[in-house]
Amino acid sequence: MKLLVTGGAGFIGSNLVHFLLRERPEWKIINLDALTYAGNLENLIAAEGNPNYTFVHEDITDQKAVQNTVEEHAPDAVMHLAAESHVDRSILDAGAFIKTNVLGTQILLDTVRNCKRDVRFLHVSTDEVYGTLGKTGYFTESTPLAPNSPYSASKAASDMLVRAAKETHGMDVVTTRCSNNYGPYQFPEKLIPLMIANSLEDKKLPVYGDGMQVRDWLYVEDHCRALLTVLEKGVSGEVYNIGGHNEWPNIEIVKLILKNLDKPESLIEYVADRLGHDRRYAIDASKIERELGWTPSHTFEQALPLTIQWYLENREWTDRIRSGAYQEYYETQYGNR
Ligand code: NAD
Ligand code: DAU
Repeated sequence: MKLLVTGGAGFIGSNLVHFLLRERPEWKIINLDALTYAGNLENLIAAEGNPNYTFVHEDITDQKAVQNTVEEHAPDAVMHLAAESHVDRSILDAGAFIKTNVLGTQILLDTVRNCKRDVRFLHVSTDEVYGTLGKTGYFTESTPLAPNSPYSASKAASDMLVRAAKETHGMDVVTTRCSNNYGPYQFPEKLIPLMIANSLEDKKLPVYGDGMQVRDWLYVEDHCRALLTVLEKGVSGEVYNIGGHNEWPNIEIVKLILKNLDKPESLIEYVADRLGHDRRYAIDASKIERELGWTPSHTFEQALPLTIQWYLENREWTDRIRSGAYQEYYETQYGNR
């Protein structure tokens, strides 16, 4: 199996690369990543030197570059994770989100289709395409799409392009929609790593609005296992929700982190709410559980402390992001870009 992973230098992508090299050691993994601010080759140091791992520094919106990569490596499957992923940034400027998430996805689909080989295309989407929930109920795969941020709107558009590739061109596509992930290598602009990093530096912890927005948290390794399961067993054209039955209001997560690090709650600072802030996400993952036999292996009670411990033991990783030094790593390893 030759597998092209896009976005493998990001949070989930780098966890996925490590997971696959471990779980499928006979596979060849080609990681195509543009190394935007969110891409960090330091996440992949442990994979360097593995003969089954190749890094390709290219942009999915560059059609020629994508075509060259597909021709050179002739993948049997694609796992498409490359995206602009942060809601707050999409509120400030949606341009890069449309370019990468919409145009980039179409370029990948077209290139894979035009290579005239049987290639399975796994599109990694998000539960945010469903919009927001009230106090009760869950997102199922048939919940109508109702995205509320430019980020989720761009992901919903990419989901529709993937669907159209199946309906129009008969491509072998599968789509996953997962809830919020946590774990090692998450960029410290997202809730959990930001709150850990600020706590460790005794900085204020900015909680949006009343802090009672609810997210359904899943340990990143469980997401990676679900993606592998869908790649290997998913039915072509189907969508699979992925989630951990693990809902928490943001403020409770922040308090758990403070407690774990023995820091005072006085560090919490309530700040202006995010525009269009979705109130609650909750995933009904019964389809993937029933049809493909996937269930999460980690509980929040185990994996949140493990995650906090990882950030404690790898403070330099966060420090190098905050100082910008992580972006020099590519040059020191590979020479000028
Ligand atoms: P991330 O922001 O940490 O990483 C994104 C990666 O994509 C980076 O390495 C970046 O360099 C790369 N990239 C961005 N634009 C690119 C381009 N034009 N060409 C090539 N590479 C490019 O994101 P993440 O949190 O790891 O999310 C990965 C995927 O999973 C995204 O598609 C996201 O929508 C989806 N997702 C994320 C979560 C979550 O909780 N983080 C949950 C569900 C789904
Ligand atoms: O649900 C899946 C989605 O989860 C993914 O598709 C996105 O790529 C990923 O970024 C994540 O989106 P969220 O917006 O839910 O994640 P974020 O970590 O940005 O915020 C989580 C919650 O915490 C949200 O309700 C906003 C709140 N928050 C976030 C930050 C960064 C705060 O209160 N303060 C903060 O400083």
